[in-house]
Amino acid sequence: MRAGGERCVSGRQADPWPLHSRYSGCVNTLPTFDATAACGGGPALPVSPADIAAAAQRIAGHVWRTPLLRLPGAVLGVDVAELWLKLEHLQRGGSFKARGMFNRMLAQPIPAAGVVVASGGNAGIAVATAARALGVHCEVFLPGNSTPAKRAALAALGAAVQVQGAAYADALAACLQRQAASGALLMHAYDQAEVVAGAGTLAAEIEAQAGGLPDRLLVSVGGGGLVAGLAAGFEGRTRVEALEPTGSPTLHAAREAGEPVDVAVSGVAADALGARRIGAVAWPICQRLVAAAHLVPDAAIVAAQQALWRELRLAVEPAAALGLAALACGVVRPQPHERVALVLCGANFDPASLTVPARA
Ligand SMILES: Cc1ncc(COP(=O)(O)O)c(C=O)c1O
Repeated sequence: MRAGGERCVSGRQADPWPLHSRYSGCVNTLPTFDATAACGGGPALPVSPADIAAAAQRIAGHVWRTPLLRLPGAVLGVDVAELWLKLEHLQRGGSFKARGMFNRMLAQPIPAAGVVVASGGNAGIAVATAARALGVHCEVFLPGNSTPAKRAALAALGAAVQVQGAAYADALAACLQRQAASGALLMHAYDQAEVVAGAGTLAAEIEAQAGGLPDRLLVSVGGGGLVAGLAAGFEGRTRVEALEPTGSPTLHAAREAGEPVDVAVSGVAADALGARRIGAVAWPICQRLVAAAHLVPDAAIVAAQQALWRELRLAVEPAAALGLAALACGVVRPQPHERVALVLCGANFDPASLTVPARA
């Protein structure tokens, strides 16, 4: 990581209830770059607008068209004209991942052996949800350090759950071995073109629901499938910015190295944003169409998650709170007239963890 990042400063006198008063230490280690200039041509990207349009047709009727909530920024203590909250945590399976998983399964014939995936997180839940809906056999590989709750949730969705090895890498190795032997369709949490295109269907949906484009869109990043899909869907027509927890900086590390590299992952959102490296599908799209990448500290993420619950009764998991966190702590500083869109991308967490401190 590059040292000496920019410190987060407060100073939003107009905020009725500034979240950034509760923590400090927001870091943004990369300068923004000119996305408009970056858009001007180059080799074809791995996911095209036509791929995303085809995905939208395929998954219509299989996934929810989740609501878009528009409200003044002041409601959540941020100094922007409007916030557009895409309530994708209400999606089937509790996260946006259902879009990509349905798209991949509907895009091709499914072998008799069904589908196979290594993931105990939102991707695994989405694959199991789609497989059950489509009547397809589903096998999910989890590491020994996965929780009994996750195993039970997947089993309840009808998936055959295999616990293999101590860590995710062991589960993945076993999953790949099974796929090679059975011929099942391999599903990846973020690094397959159909999965990214499925996530990209959010772009046209947001635009249609709002009747126009936001000035800026803030998106959480793990392996990059969500941000790449949205960036490809908007095709540079709005400013897309990537947000990563400080403990899981896959895109930052790739931008510094000039290519995807492995990072260590940790932090409150690591169960969802803890991919080890940015995806090969997402990387060229992010390079060309993502305008900026920011790091958001855990304390800001937790404060924003609590604020969404306290002010709007929106129960989301930490991974879905990075957009509000970045605005509240000043990591992202839009102009006051802007309309800023946030994707509330998931809600698979224990709601009892939403301990809400009393309002001052
Ligand atoms: C709730 C939630 N938000 C965001 C992400 C990040 O998505 P991606 O890995 O496509 O960057 C994930 C990934 O699992 C997720 O579960």
